[in-house]
Amino acid sequence: MLRQVWRSHKYLWTELSVSCRMLWWLLLGLCSTSGVALCPSMCQCGVTSKGRRKVQCVEGGMTEAIPTHEMDAGTEVLEISAPAGDWNALSISPTFQRFKRLEEVHIRRSGLTQVGMHPFWGVPSLKLLDLTVNNISGVADHNFRGLVNLVELNLDDNRITSLQSGVFKHLTELRILTLQRNLLDELVPRLFLKLGKLHMLKLSGNKFDELNPEVFKDIPELRVLECRECGLRRINTQIYHLLPYLSHLDLGDNQMQFIASDEFRDLKRLHSLKLDGNQLPVVLEHTFVRQQELKYLCLARNRLAKITNTAFVNLSSLADLDIGYNKLDRLEMQALQPVADTLERLVISGNAFGPNVIRNILNTVYNVRELGVAHMNLRHIPKGFFPERVRKLNVSANNLTELESGSLPRQLLELDLSHNDLQRLSESLILKLEDLHAVSLGSNPWSCRVCDLSSIIFRLNRTNLFRNVTCAAPKPLQGREISALHLEDLPGCKPPSQDAAKTGRLGLVVGFASLVSFSLVCVTFAVCSCMRRRARDAVQEQKRLAELQENALDRPIAIFAKGEISFKFPLDLTERKVEVSTIDEIKKDTQSLPNGTGI
Ligand SMILES: *[C@@H]1O[C@H](CO)[C@@H](O)[C@H](O)[C@H]1NC(C)=O
Ligand SMILES: *[C@@H]1O[C@H](CO)[C@@H](O)[C@H](O)[C@H]1NC(C)=O
Ligand SMILES: *[C@@H]1O[C@H](CO)[C@@H](O)[C@H](O)[C@H]1NC(C)=O
Ligand SMILES: *[C@@H]1O[C@H](CO)[C@@H](O)[C@H](O)[C@H]1NC(C)=O
Ligand SMILES: *[C@@H]1O[C@H](CO)[C@@H](O)[C@H](O)[C@H]1NC(C)=O
Ligand SMILES: *[C@@H]1O[C@H](CO)[C@@H](O)[C@H](O)[C@H]1NC(C)=O
Repeated sequence: MLRQVWRSHKYLWTELSVSCRMLWWLLLGLCSTSGVALCPSMCQCGVTSKGRRKVQCVEGGMTEAIPTHEMDAGTEVLEISAPAGDWNALSISPTFQRFKRLEEVHIRRSGLTQVGMHPFWGVPSLKLLDLTVNNISGVADHNFRGLVNLVELNLDDNRITSLQSGVFKHLTELRILTLQRNLLDELVPRLFLKLGKLHMLKLSGNKFDELNPEVFKDIPELRVLECRECGLRRINTQIYHLLPYLSHLDLGDNQMQFIASDEFRDLKRLHSLKLDGNQLPVVLEHTFVRQQELKYLCLARNRLAKITNTAFVNLSSLADLDIGYNKLDRLEMQALQPVADTLERLVISGNAFGPNVIRNILNTVYNVRELGVAHMNLRHIPKGFFPERVRKLNVSANNLTELESGSLPRQLLELDLSHNDLQRLSESLILKLEDLHAVSLGSNPWSCRVCDLSSIIFRLNRTNLFRNVTCAAPKPLQGREISALHLEDLPGCKPPSQDAAKTGRLGLVVGFASLVSFSLVCVTFAVCSCMRRRARDAVQEQKRLAELQENALDRPIAIFAKGEISFKFPLDLTERKVEVSTIDEIKKDTQSLPNGTGI
């Protein structure tokens, strides 16, 4: 009896536990299925092209806390931003622990004033934290506790006034740190404590006066250092001694008045050096003799009146040199000799070189394909002045009143003719220009009379040449965009009274008028069919743009290859983002590097 009761009891228990378990699974199932569908109302949730789950909230106007409770726990990428006029007003509270797969967090334009007490504690998967364009006034080490795998931290465009020693000490895997355009005025010793793997440091737009060499002891692996507009008057070269792997150095728009000839002695791996916008009067002898790997050198917008004959000796890899907008009026050809074999791009714009000096320069640097000769008071381009090999030519802001098709290089692909004194173009030149990939014709005093527009007059709508280019004459058409002109608006080249007087020509005029109206009909027909096609194209273009935007965060860009910063011309590392897929490469890279010897 007792046994029976016990048995039924046991049976009941088994039954109960089975149904309990079933209920549990059912609940779990419900939770997880509804979890997939979770998405805050003002956000878009989806999968990136690389298959990562992404929550994107960019409509703006968000207030209070980030709606993390409405987000799928499997989210891998979170992006919160706002349009320019409608910023969010958010705060970070420690509610990210649930997101065990979170890899990237972007919270921009959201009025954050602080990061909060270790909000990412328990989320070791996070690789990228982007808090640019907020109102953060200070950060402390506890903000970053638990971010043991963080590779990139962006704090640009905040209001950070000071940083304590060791503030980033929990971020031992950090490779990229950006603090641009904050309110920092000094770098305290041990600021970068434990950041031994840091590769990239961007400090531009803070006012330092001077950089303390002491702080660079903690980041000996640094490859990229940028401090534009930092108010720097000089650099203690001890810094360079501590950074043997530096390959990209940007010190543009500072107040440096002097560079010693042994200034860069310790930077043997430099690939890119920007010193534009300083106050340097001269490039001394043998300044770059140790920079055999330097590919890009920018000395634009200084006060250079002299480049010594041996200034560029040993620059045996230099491909891109910009000495534009200085006070140079001559240049010894000897000075350019050391770079003649390798130089592909040269900018000499805005100096006082006469045509003969320019010709000598072009004869010396015989491999240059891309040439900048803007702002040089050129009135005329003789045939053969520019070598045939030139592909990109910038003759903007000169004083050209006419141009013959024969004076353009045969291999030309891109041409900037803006800000000259051109009123009309010959038919042969127009044909040549239409074959180029890019042409700028803006800001010339274009005449919009029938005869001056030459062969393009019947296809103003179809040629790209005059898109966004305006008429300067005759008066009634001033400021009108040429590509949107109506054919019947265009006046002839002679005053009408004169034409009418010459009765003998009347027949000709009538004939011309009927030709014009006939062409008008043709053009209208062509335009109609063209417009339909364009509408279709526009839809496709919009789709493509949307895709591009979506992919922007997902695109892997290998910044670090073979222990160096790889880059393409023109060089621009400012907008690059590191992606998670490159992190392994960075790690591999770091291991394969020599141990700081051979300096
Ligand atoms: C952020 O700072 C700017 C500039 O001081 C201020 O105009 C804005 O109101 C601040 N926003 C928030 C949310 O605090
Ligand atoms: C150029 O570089 C080589 C190799 O580093 C060095 O031996 C040589 O002295 C340098 N040239 C000058 C003029 O310093
Ligand atoms: C040509 O040079 C001018 C002046 O330096 C510059 O503003 C412009 O952007 C250049 N054009 C192109 C196409 O790079
Ligand atoms: C030549 O062109 C420059 C740039 O457009 C202009 O500032 C200058 O006044 C011109 N010089 C003459 C003599 O027209
Ligand atoms: C046209 O010109 C305006 C003003 O000069 C400029 O803002 C705009 O970007 C230009 N558009 C194109 C397509 O070049
Ligand atoms: C084509 O030209 C006509 C006038 O000739 C103008 O009204 C129209 O806006 C132009 N179409 C395009 C697509 O530029």
